[in-house]
Amino acid sequence: MNIVSTKQEVRNQVKAWRKEGLSVGFVPTMGYLHEGHESLVKRAVAENDRVVVSIFVNPMQFGPKEDLATYPRDLEADSKLCEAAGAALIFHPEPEEMYEDTFCSYVDMNGLTNALCGLSRPVHFRGVCTVVNKLFNIVMPDKAYFGEKDAQQLAVVKRMVKDLDMDIEIVGCPIIREEDGLAKSSRNTYLSKEGRQQALVLSKAIFAGKDMVEKGERNPEVVKKAMLDIINSAPMARVDYVEIVDVATMKNVDVITGEILCAIAVYIGDEARLIDNFMISV
Ligand code: PAF
Repeated sequence: MNIVSTKQEVRNQVKAWRKEGLSVGFVPTMGYLHEGHESLVKRAVAENDRVVVSIFVNPMQFGPKEDLATYPRDLEADSKLCEAAGAALIFHPEPEEMYEDTFCSYVDMNGLTNALCGLSRPVHFRGVCTVVNKLFNIVMPDKAYFGEKDAQQLAVVKRMVKDLDMDIEIVGCPIIREEDGLAKSSRNTYLSKEGRQQALVLSKAIFAGKDMVEKGERNPEVVKKAMLDIINSAPMARVDYVEIVDVATMKNVDVITGEILCAIAVYIGDEARLIDNFMISV
């Protein structure tokens, strides 16, 4: 496995693979990889001849008061995980390689991004769409792999690829959880022992909400209320949102029917803002 830091090196490598007729899978990440990322890399390795992983903490998708400076980084551990999972290339650029001083072109979206995380993180999806677009243009993969934990991001990327006629298959992969239920996230590392314990209200609320829908509850307000009660039972938890939306539009639903996303975002004290969700078709 090689680690490169320039766009040109990625392009040269991918061109060489293409000449050999090899297919290319791509896993974009911000690093500090955990078993969730590992599952994406392994899936990509199983479905493609060669796999590129990008590790880039993208400044453009962080708001001014967000955790860009403190976002955890560990290239050595990330490299080991990628190599063991079978990746062929890591692209680890510096911000200057991705954004020249003169940079002024963006990919933006309406609609899907005006809900859920887009409301409390107004610049986030413009940054995600722009960097993912750039990474796709650099790597030119056949397939790209995204975690369902970031369900809105997955929907946004799928829509961008469709709207902008990109010839890339977007593959969503299931949420990976700790044994006690907490969804794996690089941001879990911010949690104190107490915060880590109280953060379990996220997965508890998700499991309870899913169970209610599976048992036939179709009123989103009833499901949301039950989930809010669970989250609010943790003194450190402050709800950003608990929403039940249509997966295709990210708009709130009056009745739970069709392809549904139930998504939550919760602050644990001032330690971390965590997200979790379930998707269900009823
Ligand atoms: O999900 C992430 O880690 C990031 O949003 C992504 C897709 C790598 C873009 O920076």
